[in-house]
Amino acid sequence: MTGRTTPIAVLISGRGSNFEALYRATREGRLPGRIVLVLSNVATAAGIEHARSLGLHTAVVPSRGAGSRAAHEARVREEIERAGAQWICLAGYMRLLSAEFVAAFPNRILNIHPSLLPSFPGLDVQQAALDHGVRVSGCTVHLVDAGLDSGPIVGQRAVDVRSGDDAQSLARRILRQEHELYPDALRRLLTEEWRIEGRRVLFGPASEVRAAD
Ligand code: GAR
Repeated sequence: MTGRTTPIAVLISGRGSNFEALYRATREGRLPGRIVLVLSNVATAAGIEHARSLGLHTAVVPSRGAGSRAAHEARVREEIERAGAQWICLAGYMRLLSAEFVAAFPNRILNIHPSLLPSFPGLDVQQAALDHGVRVSGCTVHLVDAGLDSGPIVGQRAVDVRSGDDAQSLARRILRQEHELYPDALRRLLTEEWRIEGRRVLFGPASEVRAAD
C-alpha cells in the first residue's frame, strides 16, 4: 500500500493469531497501517516469538511481579509512546485496562472478543455460549472503554452453532471470522469518516451518517 500508514501497537498475551492476521493485512495492502510494536505481558507468549522472527519490534512487560497495576501500565504506556504508535490493538491481551490508561488514548484502542457482545463478556465465552444454548455466536471488534468488553461496537461477524460443537470447535470457527473482521474493522476506522453517537459508531460524513455495517 502506498502513501501514509498509521503506526499500530498490538498487545497480546498468548498465541497471537489475531496479531498475525493484522500483520498479514498490513503486508498485503489491505490495511494502511504498520505494526511498530508487539507487546506481551507474558514472556512465553508464542505470538511474541513469532513477531521477533518477523523482525518486528517487540517488548515483554511482565504483569506478574510488576507490583501494582498502575506500575505495569506505566511501563506499557512508555513502550507504546516510545514506539510512536497511534492505535492500540488488543489481540488476546488478557488484562483489563484502567480508566487512566484508556483516557490516555481516547477512542484509539480496539479489542477483539470471541462472542457477539453484549452477550458473554469476560472469559471462557464459547463454553458460556454453548451452556446457554445460543444458536448463533460470533465475534466483535469494539473500541475500548474502562469496562469489561463494553465499548462501542465497530464490527461483528456471526457464526452458527452446530449440534456437535464443543467449545474448541466453536472457538476455531469464530477465530477464522476474527482474522477477517479485525483488519477489516481497523481499516474502516483508518480510512473512513466516523464518529460516536451514544453507543453507536457511525461511518460516513456527518451529513449522511449510517450505522456501522
Ligand atoms: C481470540 O479468540 C480473542 O478473541 C480472545 O482470545 C483469543 C486470542 O487468540 N480474546 C479475548 O477473549 C479477550 N477477552 P490469539 O492470541 O490467537 O489472537
